[in-house]
Amino acid sequence: MKYNKSLEILIFVKAKTPSYFAGYKGTTIVYNSCWFLNFINDNESINLYMAESLIIPKGASKSEKYEALLPQLKALIHYESDLTANLANISSALNMAFDFLWVGFYLSNQEQLVLGPFQGPIACTRIPFGKGVCGTAYSEAKTIIVEDVDAFPGHIACSSDSKSEIVVPIIKDGEVKLILDIDSDSYSSFNEVDQKYLEQVASFISDKL
Ligand code: SME
Repeated sequence: MKYNKSLEILIFVKAKTPSYFAGYKGTTIVYNSCWFLNFINDNESINLYMAESLIIPKGASKSEKYEALLPQLKALIHYESDLTANLANISSALNMAFDFLWVGFYLSNQEQLVLGPFQGPIACTRIPFGKGVCGTAYSEAKTIIVEDVDAFPGHIACSSDSKSEIVVPIIKDGEVKLILDIDSDSYSSFNEVDQKYLEQVASFISDKL
């Protein structure tokens, strides 16, 4: 799709309630009562480019929700180069789609991990490499799924409500640059389905680094 800002027509649709759009493509949850629809004329066709809101199928399986969410996440960060802005929107989108306890990022400053954009309760600001689930995922450069945080040696409890966790490293040029951390207030919330899709999210982020 060609993007030519001069040809962009912005259509702003505002509903009184988010449920106004509930009939869109079957039963959906639309977060945000405002839709920004950009029609972009690429001289061949009129494309619909949607951003600023999320459409997540209601009552769908975890895979179906990720399948719906991932193209929207990719679109959300496509035209933005600022890492902080993209991490903020990704953590918000994941939280809105799945209602996790905590979703966020820790970034490497070459000495330790430092808290980045997140959604959820306040959290520990610095984590040494090799410590906790985050520091271990960083040092081992691999995704870690923890079904019961109390059973993970050295787990760092930022919130006593956290019961299970997944941490996904974001790797660029063979080096872990940051990690995505998600906490749930239920045991065993994460499995290979989350790993598969969240590693795709990590790949989107890596492509923007
Ligand atoms: N539990 C993490 C610390 C970060 S918080 O969960 C937000 C860990 O053990 O590294």
